[in-house]
Amino acid sequence: MLSILRTSLSGLLMGALYVRASAVAFIDPRIGGGSLLDDAAPGLGEPLNIIVSGLSSPGVLTDSGITNYAKALGFSIECLGIHLGAPQSANLGDGNGPVNQTMELRQDFGDAEVGTCLETLIGGNHFRVFRQNGPLANTGALFLAASREEDLEEGHTIIPDGYNIGRDQFVADALGQRTFGGFVYSTTAENITGLLPVGSTGINHGIAIDGIVTLITVTILATPKASPDFFDQSDI
Ligand SMILES: *[C@@H]1O[C@H](CO)[C@@H](O)[C@H](O)[C@H]1NC(C)=O
Ligand SMILES: *[C@@H]1O[C@H](CO)[C@@H](O)[C@H](O)[C@H]1NC(C)=O
Repeated sequence: MLSILRTSLSGLLMGALYVRASAVAFIDPRIGGGSLLDDAAPGLGEPLNIIVSGLSSPGVLTDSGITNYAKALGFSIECLGIHLGAPQSANLGDGNGPVNQTMELRQDFGDAEVGTCLETLIGGNHFRVFRQNGPLANTGALFLAASREEDLEEGHTIIPDGYNIGRDQFVADALGQRTFGGFVYSTTAENITGLLPVGSTGINHGIAIDGIVTLITVTILATPKASPDFFDQSDI
């Protein structure tokens, strides 16, 4: 019994990439029967090609936190709250099974009010958010399915090479220091191969991917609070 426990525990630890102190960046969803491809259509998925590390400042990993961070990168909530297209689900191997995206954000072209409507019409970058927080892998990491879309006339589908382009554009926008709503963010990135397949087999719209997942770690350097505990990091 104890040895079984040890074996599965060491299996888990080996799968827990980038172990630092007592927390982990994320746990490979495949260990718990999940996948880095979401469920977009029967037998087809879109790549979860960006992971926001669980070692990021906790304030980035909440729904409002990732929304504010996304705004710092030029994204916004969807056009007037109207959602085009069905939600996609993903199994992050955390024991929750397949779960629908928690939200979807679109590039706002510099205008948080009508900008996302512009994206809906002319196309642009967007991403879906999935949170790894089930009992088997409660890392708090966010798995993002980023892609670049055609305009509405083209049926709002993904452009050629749109998964790789969407990921790289997001990361290029994120790297370094960014600010929104009084929050100052610092972001670092590293590429990971081997989590996703390479090619177009099983990929939604038959668009090939390069198999790279970019792991980003986001640190909140400053919050809007102008109180004496401004630099108290414990609540961010
Ligand atoms: C996702 O949302 C759709 C539409 O609301 C719903 O029909 C479906 O059952 C949901 N899937 C999961 C896995 O929760
Ligand atoms: C990750 O890979 C992409 C595509 O090859 C590349 O453009 C990007 O610079 C890489 N990023 C890092 C942090 O290595």
